[in-house]
Amino acid sequence: MKGCLVVSMYVVEGGRTLSGEVRVQGSKNSTLPILAASLLCCGESVLFNCPRLSDVDATLSILRYIGCSARREGDTLIVDTASVTRNVIPSGLMHRMRSSIIFLGAMIARFDRVKMSFPGGCELGPRPIDLHLNALREMGVAISEEHGELDCCISDRLHGAKIALTVPSVGATENIMIAAATADGTTVISNAAREPEITDLADYLTACGAKISGAGESTVIIDGVKRLHPATHAIIPDRIVAATLMSAAAVTGSDIRFTSIIPSHLESVLPVFRDCGCEIEMISGGGMVFRSPYRLQSPRLIRTMPYPGFPTDAQAPLMSAAAVADGLTVFVENMFESRYSHVSELCRLGADIRVEGRVAVVDGVRRLLSAHVRARDLRGAAALVVAALSARGKSEIEGVEYLERGYEDFELVLSALGAEMKKV
Ligand code: EPU
Repeated sequence: MKGCLVVSMYVVEGGRTLSGEVRVQGSKNSTLPILAASLLCCGESVLFNCPRLSDVDATLSILRYIGCSARREGDTLIVDTASVTRNVIPSGLMHRMRSSIIFLGAMIARFDRVKMSFPGGCELGPRPIDLHLNALREMGVAISEEHGELDCCISDRLHGAKIALTVPSVGATENIMIAAATADGTTVISNAAREPEITDLADYLTACGAKISGAGESTVIIDGVKRLHPATHAIIPDRIVAATLMSAAAVTGSDIRFTSIIPSHLESVLPVFRDCGCEIEMISGGGMVFRSPYRLQSPRLIRTMPYPGFPTDAQAPLMSAAAVADGLTVFVENMFESRYSHVSELCRLGADIRVEGRVAVVDGVRRLLSAHVRARDLRGAAALVVAALSARGKSEIEGVEYLERGYEDFELVLSALGAEMKKV
């Protein structure tokens, strides 16, 4: 078997209409920081609704490496952080995903000295961590950066600070909240990120005994407490997976019922689908019915923004819908420099898209055609699956490993709705 490389791909036979009911998985971007925050609890946290994803596995590998234990029972993760034996995270583990930087705040709250390498490179363009480092410096952490390694130490105690973020960074807001939870005194974050995942992290930390107000707003105040205790918590549904499944329903003229979504988390996304001509009906007692028309209308303009604006993570799947809508759609990607890697592959499937810097102009075509395409990032992979579902004929999509970072059993979820899709 020496030198043998096993590569999976999806094979999708397009043109099938989807129907039925779908339960949206738990949020990846909530699960990762909450797992890191569990380090502060020094005991057994029980987390419900945790998706099975390679990014979640990478996070669990870090927790296990530093001495914690974790086990899964269905979609529940039981994480015991009572014992920690290492204050170092090696580069092999840090490089598995960019969001491993979320361990910085939690590690420094647990140890006086921490060493970790810079997080992995990123397919979305440069993703600096200056805001994370500057904030922790203001809280009393001395950080030296040499040869790709971060060496952090606290001389006395971690203390509260007034931190004004120049960009409402999700990861920096999370790192500060976690570090501040057991720091001396009060921390005030202004221009904080307002994403639902921030509120979910605050809810978990509060259940553990933290004192946090303002999560979900621009100013978050954390009054440090002496220690946190373990808690149980249910992760929120994944709003980006929901938006991806809506895109899949939209391009296939389908009618789907969603059983586990939080409509307020999708307030900037649902109007875009309505502009496309989709009907969205909330069901009393929870859930939502989504019906798409025979031909989508172009949503005209999509500008990605920090929450509550349109999420950058839903840009790629929505572009696949715009690719088959009637009319022109202009996308403006304001969050990341390089988030159009799916465009060339969508064009191979017959889409008409031109990119100039952060702007993409999509001229909708009646029908996409099948092709062999290759994903280069997580949301781009999801966009290619959505496009292949609407294309005539059999498409092959390489890059399954990207999709599996954020979508749990995607081929099974879509097959259960009537798609003809398999992983080979
Ligand atoms: N930024 C800085 N300096 C920093 C941190 C961020 O300049 O120190 C900039 C970034 O370069 C970017 C902007 O701030 O231009 C926003 O980045 P942010 O820090 O908010 O992103 P993140 O925390 O690294 C999370 C999600 C991403 C999602 C973004 C934006 C997680 C694990 N990741 O990343 O999710 O796109 O927020 O909403 O929560 C995905 O799930 O596919 C994904 C990439």
